[in-house]
Amino acid sequence: MQPSSGENVNQRIARISAHLDPPNLHMDNTASVSRLNCRAKGAAAGFRVAILGAAGGIGQPLAMLMKMNPLVSVLHLYDVVNTPGVTSDISHMDTGAVVRGFLGQQQLEEALTGVDLVIIPAGVPRKPGMTRDDLFNINAGIVRTLSEAIAKCCPNAIVNVISNPVNSTVPIAAEVFKKAGTFDPKKLLGVTMLDVVRANTFVAEVLGLDPRDVNVPVVGGHAGVTILPLLSQVKPPCSFTPKEVDYLTHRIQNGGTEVVEAKAGAGSATLSMAYAAVKFADACLRGLRGDASVVECAFVASQVTELPFFASQVRLGRIGVEEIYPLGPLNEYERAGLEKAKKELESSIQKGVSFVRK
Ligand code: NAD
Ligand code: LMR
Repeated sequence: MQPSSGENVNQRIARISAHLDPPNLHMDNTASVSRLNCRAKGAAAGFRVAILGAAGGIGQPLAMLMKMNPLVSVLHLYDVVNTPGVTSDISHMDTGAVVRGFLGQQQLEEALTGVDLVIIPAGVPRKPGMTRDDLFNINAGIVRTLSEAIAKCCPNAIVNVISNPVNSTVPIAAEVFKKAGTFDPKKLLGVTMLDVVRANTFVAEVLGLDPRDVNVPVVGGHAGVTILPLLSQVKPPCSFTPKEVDYLTHRIQNGGTEVVEAKAGAGSATLSMAYAAVKFADACLRGLRGDASVVECAFVASQVTELPFFASQVRLGRIGVEEIYPLGPLNEYERAGLEKAKKELESSIQKGVSFVRK
């Protein structure tokens, strides 16, 4: 293959080997990737995506799946450890997206510059016996630092927060953005997609259906009783016995704990989470592209209840969250669940807000 005209051999080598030596890349402006030269030959123009925490249990399969997404033209992988290896490995996949790795805090800003979507799975996972809130002390600081860099380098990007406890980390990111004067509630989304993915799977098992044909709205938040599956609104329409409702609600609310216990100290859901994160990120990108009727559940700034944040079905579009749908008619069981969810959510949200305001 001939070098493209106007590009000398050194520049070409620097570009091709960029992922192998991120520290040098940082110093070398000639190797900086522009929107144009980042496209693999033949690949369509796409979006630039950054994954923060890309070398972790979720980050690695998430990076692999995003490299396979045809809507992605540039994939930035950032972590405080191990990104050169993960980036080198993933960059060999013969898909369109160009991959670049960024290692350590000194490369965080470069990782974020010019991106359209930031996905954050950075932070520690649970071990058996812990609640998601037990992760607050470590993960709150991580999300704050990353959000400060997002506010500075890509204030218009859509942000998908995966790091737990989501019910607090999303308010933390919002407060950081407010402080920086960049907060746009349409662009900050807590990822609750795994609850929907689990709900679809477990409900399909009970109904004897293909999970791909099932859609269960899951509202509230992402921890224990704040995870509220609306089984009265399942599509296709169906009915459950009270025993089935109890079983399904409990299993959906405890799906994360089920995995944490099965992994017995080796972490929490990573593979199903990467799948769910990509499903959600893909919906955000399709919205950005201008596709109609892209609707998913997410934890967002909301007026659906009296709480400042709440997960419900949202329509995704060119500017992020374009419409937040009301909860719809709830039965008595769901109304009782909603009251419990709101009580816990209120204190988790406040905890996140206070962490930044203190
Ligand atoms: P992991 O420990 O395997 O990976 C986390 C990664 O984050 C590591 O590679 C680590 O180096 C990196 N990291 C730590 N501090 C960082 C920083 N300041 N900047 C960038 N990267 C940093 O954990 P995991 O299993 O991938 O889980 C990550 C988080 O996702 C946890 O908080 C977990 O609870 C959460 N999670 C959320 C959901 C959800 O549905 N929202 C589902 C599963 C897990
Ligand atoms: C999940 O739902 O799997 C995640 O929130 C991880 C966890 O700690 O349960």
